[in-house]
Amino acid sequence: MHSLTLRRPDDWHLHLRDGAMLKGVLPETTRHFARAIIMPNLVPPVVTGAQALAYRDRILAALPDGAPFEPLMTLYLTEGTDPADVVAAAQSGLIKAVKLYPAGATTNSHGGVRDLTRVYPVLEAMAKIGLPLCTHGEVTTPDVDIFDREAVFIDTVLDPLRRAIPGLRVVMEHITTSEGVAYAASGGADLAATITTHHLIINRNHILVGGIRPHYYCLPVAKRESHRLALRKAATSGAACYFLGTDSAPHIDALKEHACGCAGCFTATNTMPLLAHVFEDENALGQLESFTSLNGPAFYRLPANEARITIVKHAAAQTFPEKILTEAGPVTVFNPGFPVYWHVES
Ligand code: NCD
Ligand code: ZN
Repeated sequence: MHSLTLRRPDDWHLHLRDGAMLKGVLPETTRHFARAIIMPNLVPPVVTGAQALAYRDRILAALPDGAPFEPLMTLYLTEGTDPADVVAAAQSGLIKAVKLYPAGATTNSHGGVRDLTRVYPVLEAMAKIGLPLCTHGEVTTPDVDIFDREAVFIDTVLDPLRRAIPGLRVVMEHITTSEGVAYAASGGADLAATITTHHLIINRNHILVGGIRPHYYCLPVAKRESHRLALRKAATSGAACYFLGTDSAPHIDALKEHACGCAGCFTATNTMPLLAHVFEDENALGQLESFTSLNGPAFYRLPANEARITIVKHAAAQTFPEKILTEAGPVTVFNPGFPVYWHVES
């Protein structure tokens, strides 16, 4: 198969930032994607409905002319979040999820949640109205090894939480382990997981062997090869509980190539060709549309997109920009380390 027409994809986990960075990276997403779940970890974070509304307006104002793109907003959960504000923002259609960052887990998460029981009233209100909780699923206690943080989160935080608040709909964001793959499949219609493009391509060797590669460093950090293989199997299975969330997370090069480099891979530009490559490798091109365009809307109870895109496999390797030059500074595009023959034509 050399040409593939799919419903226009959505990105169920995206960082767009703000200001000059937003302006610079937004076209990279709107070129291929119809909608995206917009992460709220700005500085300061998007905590209230009023802040989400203002942020959505800034995104819409930054859209390239005529781009048909719908930002799906989220709120950043804090111990001070007001359940009534969350419910009002959801019922007005403004927000589609609330994001749980355990305090200290990742970029701009210091305002996140320390004691989960303090946000139970918010989570109970969300369960009642069916509003999903997107979880950054890592514990942050210093005694837990960074490569074990996801598995420990599932056992000590997520599973107890789902038992404490029955009916809470949860998206396990950017899963990176076979434990994440298995747990996501165990929860029925109210549990799902997003998988990033880069975690289907790199394992931890790519970050560390032959010199440290800051552009492959993201959180959750890529794990060993057996986990990457489990993620590939899950993503290409067609199972309804797995869908694409790129976690495309732009940082300027100066902050990536740094003594204390920021976490995040920037994949908005080339995600669709890379996914076509991965799915072809796995003999699963027929499942690509489920992963990028069908399973996500079904979980979020939204219609699938009517527009289509066509991805074509060329005889020659296709090129994509090495960097996106934003007015905030250059952002390096994720380099898969192999030639890619697929190209999005429309
Ligand atoms: C994200 C960012 O830079 O905002 N970084 C990352 O490595 N994925 C935060 C996040 O989603 O963890
Ligand atoms: Zn993210």
